This record gives sequence, C-alpha cells and structure tokens, in this order.
Amino acid sequence: MSSSFGTIFKTTTFGESHGTGVGAVVDGCPAGVKISRDEIQAQLERRRPGQSRLTTPRKEGDQVEILSGLENGLTLGTPIALMVRNRNQKPGDYSQMSNIPRPSHADYSYRMKYGINSQSGGGRASARETLARVAAGSVAEQFLKSAFGVEIIAWVSQVGPVEMVLSDTEVENLSRSDVDATVVRCPDLQKAELMTAAIEKAATEKNSLGGVISCVCRRVPAGWGEPVFDKLDALLAYVMISIPAAKGFALGSGFNAATMTGSAHNDCFVKDGAKLKTKTNFSGGVQGGISNGQPINFSVAFKPVPTIGKPQKTADYDGCEVILEGKGRHDPCVLPRAVPIVEAMAALTLADLALRQQRSNL
Ligand SMILES: Cc1cc2nc3c(=O)[nH]c(=O)nc-3n(C[C@H](O)[C@H](O)[C@H](O)COP(=O)(O)O)c2cc1C
Repeated sequence: MSSSFGTIFKTTTFGESHGTGVGAVVDGCPAGVKISRDEIQAQLERRRPGQSRLTTPRKEGDQVEILSGLENGLTLGTPIALMVRNRNQKPGDYSQMSNIPRPSHADYSYRMKYGINSQSGGGRASARETLARVAAGSVAEQFLKSAFGVEIIAWVSQVGPVEMVLSDTEVENLSRSDVDATVVRCPDLQKAELMTAAIEKAATEKNSLGGVISCVCRRVPAGWGEPVFDKLDALLAYVMISIPAAKGFALGSGFNAATMTGSAHNDCFVKDGAKLKTKTNFSGGVQGGISNGQPINFSVAFKPVPTIGKPQKTADYDGCEVILEGKGRHDPCVLPRAVPIVEAMAALTLADLALRQQRSNL
C-alpha cells in the first residue's frame, strides 16, 4: 500500500531507479478533463537531472508515455497510466557501495526491512521515483486548474545559510517563469546568485547542501480538507515529508507561531463581498484542517544530499571500518529539482480533497 496515495483521486507509483522504467497510475480523475502531454513533459523537464550546471550531469531523457486513460487529449474517467523508460542506467556507479551502506541514505534501513537491496542506486528510495509523482501531479494540477482555477507555485527560498523572504504581495504575483528565471529557482536574483555560488562551492568541496522550498496554492476554495485525521495541513505534511530528503514541514507561520502572542497571530476577519476573508494569513490558508479561502502557504526543508565525494569514515555491512568516497553522478543540492515535486504533491493532495468535498456535498 505504501506506493499509493489518495482516496478518490488515487495515485500509485511504480518502478526502480535502474529497472525498465518508472511511472504512475492515476485512478479516479473525472472524465472529460483536458490534459496536455506537453504540460506533463514541461514539469518533468524541471525535475530532470542534467538540466543546468547545478544539477547532476546524469542525462535522463525522461520522455513521458501516456499508456491509457486519455483520448484526443481528454480523460476517459479510466486509469491514466504514465510511464518514463529508464535510458541512462549506470549500475557500475554504485558497485563500490554494494557492501557499504551509504550514510544517511536508505541502503541500511531497506536491507533491515526487506533483507535485499535493489542491485544499484536507491531502488524505490531513489529520487527517480519522484518523476512518477511529477507526471501524476501534473494531471492533478491540470484538473484543479480547469475545474477550480487553482494555481500552485513553489520556489527555492533557502539554500544552506542563504535565505530569501517574499512579501505577501510578491507571493500573490509570483509566476513559474519568475521562479525559472534563475537556475536555482529562487525568484530573488541577488539571493539566487548567492545560492548558486554556495552550491558550486559545496560541489567543488565534494560536499552537499540542503535548503527550503516554499509553496503557495492560490484560489483554493474554502471548505477543502477533512475534519480529523485527513486534515488538509496534516495531509500536506504527510505528502511533503514523503519526498526523499524532505525533513521539515511548516504551514503559514510554522514554528514562528510558538514565539508570537494570540493578538499578533490571530487572523481577524473582514467582509469580502458575500463572504469573509482574513486580514492576515498566519494560518497559511488552513484552519481546523480545512481551507479558509486564503492562499495556502507552506515550506518544506530538505537535508543535504547524502551521497558525497568527500571521504567519510563509516562501516561496511560486516562492521569493518571503511573510508567511503561516494562515486556516481549526484546532485550537490536537490532543491532546484525538487520544486516541481513539491508542486506535484500539493496538486495530488488538493485534487483528492476537492473530489472528497464534492462527494460530501452530494
Ligand atoms: C530531486 C532529488 C534528487 C536527489 N538526488 C540524490 C542523489 O543524487 N544522491 C543521493 O544520495 N541522494 C539524492 N536524493 C536524496 C535521497 O533520495 C534520499 O536522501 C534517500 O532516499 C534517503 O531518504 P531520506 O533522506 O528521506 O531519509 C535526492 C532527492 C531528491 C528529492
């Protein structure tokens, strides 16, 4: 079950990093939704390795094939199968590590769980699995946009110690092309340069860096999210932390809420036509686990990539001390490539909650 997510709009991903291919089956997307393959491909291009000087030089073609569920660009209401064939397998890159569990990667814990590891690379723990999420997420996003006008934009807001904060108005007006204007996917040009330099320095030192991706979901109607365990914020936290290397999630004011007073933190209401809106948005657009009609704002913290070329003293599976220098083609910082993954996971969560809300109002 752990490869599936969603209750009505349900996504299952499949494939190992160095097997035949990786893909997703999206079941439950309503019929008659216009889906563009080019839009799916465009999101895959943003996730693809080898796209800029900041990412691993691994060149993965990542051309999506739509195997079922669509005719003449419209969904049929049947399962949509999406697949990308693996074309750039280099299992040899990983042979040195076969008897050494990579520190802070998934090798040791996978072996403890299954008693067997994928021949090469990270198997299901490899970030290659996330391309299936991005393809499925693009279908969810296109559904959300055409049915509700929802827009989802993520960007890199921190790399290592270099942090960037946008005002509410800047977030309101942010577009994907602003984000993609820099290789690091940070819309502040000056901060982007500092982030780029920090990543290049880490790469030269055979080291890696983490950071933070922020995301806004605009025009989500009030009322999405389920009251107890499937709260909108709880599901967002769940799916975001399911992204490899994601380690922290914060909605709205996040951990800063702990230092504020109630009078400073409360989002007071004002009249907005026939409805209400809030003057501030410390709640990040979610109250009681249900969207309140304000933009949904959240951030996801990523750790530094575990496989690094810098020598590290560790132990092999036999307990013998070894010095490991990570080989293979790895990203010094996953943040720029993780932007479309965050957008995809937000879209999959919202698409399912949208359909659950429709069902609960029948
Ligand atoms: C887009 C992306 C690319 C990644 N690339 C690498 C990589 O090249 N090398 C690596 O060791 N880890 C990489 N990771 C991280 C590992 O997949 C992750 O650390 C590993 O699966 C262990 O999971 P955990 O960090 O969540 O515990 C990447 C993660 C993402 C999101």
